[in-house]
Amino acid sequence: MAEAAFSIPSNLIQALRGARHATVLTGSGISAESGVPTFRDAQTGLWSNFRPEDLATPEAFRRDPKLVWEWYAWRRELVARARPNEGHLALAELEQRVPKFTLITQNVDGLHQRAGSRNVIELHGNINRVKCFEEDAVVESWNQTGEVPPRCPRCGGRLRPDVVWFNEPLPEDSIGKAASAARNCDLFLSIGTSGAVYPAASLPFEALEGGATVVEINPVPTPLTARATFALRGPSGEILPEIMRQLAG
Ligand code: APR
Repeated sequence: MAEAAFSIPSNLIQALRGARHATVLTGSGISAESGVPTFRDAQTGLWSNFRPEDLATPEAFRRDPKLVWEWYAWRRELVARARPNEGHLALAELEQRVPKFTLITQNVDGLHQRAGSRNVIELHGNINRVKCFEEDAVVESWNQTGEVPPRCPRCGGRLRPDVVWFNEPLPEDSIGKAASAARNCDLFLSIGTSGAVYPAASLPFEALEGGATVVEINPVPTPLTARATFALRGPSGEILPEIMRQLAG
């Protein structure tokens, strides 16, 4: 058999084989190998002199709605050109192998669904959905008048991306479901997240409290590393397919 690029501890493979309920938390790192910059990567091109923290907030939108709308339009374009990578595909395959499987993502790029994942909790919304800034309700279609941002067909308010901005609350149902999936699973994987932003960052620790085996996949250490049962140091686009190969073996 070809030498595996990453050696996966055999007791992790055993734990995966025996898992009744696996819960996964992903961050922007899992989309890095699809060419989607992570949240804390330096912004590229014409957006290089902006920080996400200065654009992804209600205050930024009130101050300059056109700039914020255009930043998301640029990211939507970039995501539309991106393709799910081997890491996304491996998680969609894992979902088929575990009796109960919950995928929680902080990402707004929709790549998990495009890879075939079904039970996805989008903690921070989805960049491909639009909502009215005034009504806070999703808008499916609007008049293309050329105005940027476009206007809500119901109330005339400005439209915005349906994503969670800094200083905004998470959708109640999603964080509740995510916390329950973290507390009640027997295996928790934290993949491609710096663990910098709460409440998402608390989920692996809730899993530990619930007695779960916790696995971290990240090329660099994070605040979770010291507490994780297994810390696999490398890119998820390589480690997850290797895990699936050894699971099938
Ligand atoms: N495979 C796995 N992990 C990777 C890879 C890779 N190929 N490349 C980078 N990473 C890791 C980085 O080491 C980092 O720890 O992904 C993590 C990305 O961290 P952030 O950029 O902070 O993104 P994320 O953790 O998703 O941010 C969480 O913060 O800014 C808010 O709402 C935003 O959803 C975002 C949240």
